[in-house]
Parts: sequence; structure tokens; C-alpha cells
Amino acid sequence: MGGNSFGKTFRITTFGESHGTGIGVVIDGCPSRIPLSEDDFVDEMARRRPGRTPLDTPRSEPDRVEILSGVFEGLTTGTPIALFVRNQDVKSEPYEIIRSLFRPGHADYTYFKKYGQFDFRGGGRSSARETAARVAAGVVAQKVLAPLEIRIAAYTLEMGGIRAEHIDLDAVHKNPFYCPDMAVVDKMRKVLRAANEAGDSIGGIVEVRATGCPSGLGEPVFDKLSADLAKGVMSVGAVKGIEIGAGFEAARLKGSQNNDPMTPAGFKTNHAGGILGGISNGDDIVLRAAIKPIPSIMMEQETIDREGRPARLKLQGRFDISAVPRIVPVLKAMAAVVLADHYLRWKSIL
Ligand SMILES: Cc1cc2nc3c(=O)[nH]c(=O)nc-3n(C[C@H](O)[C@H](O)[C@H](O)COP(=O)(O)O)c2cc1C
Repeated sequence: MGGNSFGKTFRITTFGESHGTGIGVVIDGCPSRIPLSEDDFVDEMARRRPGRTPLDTPRSEPDRVEILSGVFEGLTTGTPIALFVRNQDVKSEPYEIIRSLFRPGHADYTYFKKYGQFDFRGGGRSSARETAARVAAGVVAQKVLAPLEIRIAAYTLEMGGIRAEHIDLDAVHKNPFYCPDMAVVDKMRKVLRAANEAGDSIGGIVEVRATGCPSGLGEPVFDKLSADLAKGVMSVGAVKGIEIGAGFEAARLKGSQNNDPMTPAGFKTNHAGGILGGISNGDDIVLRAAIKPIPSIMMEQETIDREGRPARLKLQGRFDISAVPRIVPVLKAMAAVVLADHYLRWKSIL
């Protein structure tokens, strides 16, 4: 199975399956002499772990990151950094049904068609468990970015159709949904509960905003910053769309409305989302990702078995009701990985 690596200079390779020994990432190209310890990962890993909302999967993983290589006496050495997260709370029996029946909306069918043999337990390689490795890589990426003082914020703009009306970054970590608008948190809770009671699931929209990014990151034409952000974000399971700046709304604007007026003090508006011609323009980089509802639902569903015969599927497993909010720190990590990669590439031509 190819396709497990991402980035050019700051390059990550993830490995592992949901119910295997663990999940990990090898980071190539991280500069030397960056302070790094296992404690650095604790906060960000806790943000992705299930259990922040009562309707996350009840799987309970401590998600302690072990540093296997690349760090000596508390500093990175410039050699590959291998990070490992052990799987500890593995219960595979409820997944036995997926040995023969495909979950509509999940990757079981395409993995079977492509590979014939795959670890279906807990979703195997297609499980969101893989995103633990990305969050760990994002912590290192943020350390690489430290000299630039870039601040990356990610939050739930919308969940189950309930949208934040105000963006207050101070509110984001004061509620379990990473919602920047406390006024809609209860509505989000209700819509999540209702989906759970119906045996259903919901999706949402996550916004990522990077402030303090200098002008100059991104390499046209194929490695535009926007193109790499799109790939990094779209490579996360359940992400079905991405827009940068005005995004799809730009299609309905006139040039006179969409252009961001330029003044000696900077851009007056930010329809560009901080990127022009694939290169950061110094304004905030703003992207939004559309997250589909969780495919593993408790309602009985129509499906087929491995021989293509019709079947009914009634799941009994440990699943999230929504990938939002758990996906929020994952998308923040992917933005950090892309920015760190382009920062190192930018530095190499200065
Ligand atoms: C943070 C996060 C949590 C997720 N939790 C679940 C889950 O509990 N059950 C499930 O079926 N899918 C879950 N997913 C979604 C699947 O991983 C995803 O739908 C699947 O890999 C198929 O890929 P696709 O949706 O990109 O086509 C989650 C995704 C993320 C990012």
C-alpha cells in the first residue's frame, strides 16, 4: 500500500492500524536542536482523544506518545524522528460482522476491492485512529514554525446544521465542541443527542486560521500553498470538501467585490484567504473543510457481502456520532505540517 507519506522537506510517513500494536509517524527533515520531549504531545493528543463529548466513541486510549528516535538529550538531532502511540483499548469482536459485510459510506468496500486482504478490525488503516499520528506530527511541525510566531487556530464552524455566528477564539477551548460561539453550544449538544437517539450521525464544517504567516510560503505551480493545504486536509478521513478564503462564494462575486483592496497598511479584506498565486500574502490563511456524517450508524442499512449478495447490516460497535469536533486538532495539525514544510523550503532559497 503506497501513499503513506506527505510533504517534501518536512516529510511525514504514518503507519499502523486501529486494532494493531499501535499507530506512529516517522518525520524526516526536521531541523536539529529543537527542544522536544514526550510531554510536549500531551495537550494536543488529549484534544483528539475520544471522551471530550459523551457521544464520542467509548474507546478509551491514553494516547501517550513515545519518542523512539531522533531526539538526544532533549533536542532533535536532525535524524528521522519516530513517534509511536500504542493501541491499548482494542475490542475487535463487534467488528467481526465487517469481515463479510461492507459498511455503506466507509472504506471497507474499496479496501476489499483494491487489496483483497486488509485488517478490517476497527476500520484498520482507514480508521480515524491513524489521525493520532498526524496530531503528533503536527506538534513537531508547530515547533519548527516557532521562529515565525505563526498561531494556528481551528474550530467548529458548524455541526449538524448549527452554525457559529461569532468567532471568539477564547471560547474554543471552553466547550467540548471547540465551538467559537458559546451561544450555540447547547444547540449543538441537542442536535448531537438527537442523532444518537435516532441511531444516526451528523457532519459539520471546521475552519482553520493561521495568523502571523509571512508572505512567501508556497511553490507554484504544482506545490502551491493552497494545493498542498487542500491535499493535507482532504487526506483526512470524512473530509469531503475544502475552500480557501471566500471559496465557493467567490464564484458568485464580481471581481470588484472579490479583489482585496491593497493599502500600505495591508489588505482591506481577505477573500483570498491569505494566498495569491499559490504563495502566502502575509494575511491570515483561512480554510474551511466540509466533514461528512460518520458512516458507521446504528440504524439497519442495506448493503452487500463479499460475494456481492444483498444483505442487511446492523452494527454494534464503538463509534463517534460525529467526526466533529475530534477532527478539529487533526486539521490544525495538517495545516501545521504543510506550513512547516513550506517554511523549510522557503528558508532554503533565502
Ligand atoms: C476524528 C475522526 C473520527 C472518526 N470516527 C469514526 C467512527 O467512529 N466511525 C466511523 O465509521 N467513521 C469514523 N470516521 C470517518 C472515517 O474514518 C471515514 O469516513 C472513512 O475512513 C472513509 O473515508 P472517507 O469518508 O474519506 O471516504 C472518523 C473520522 C475522523 C477524522
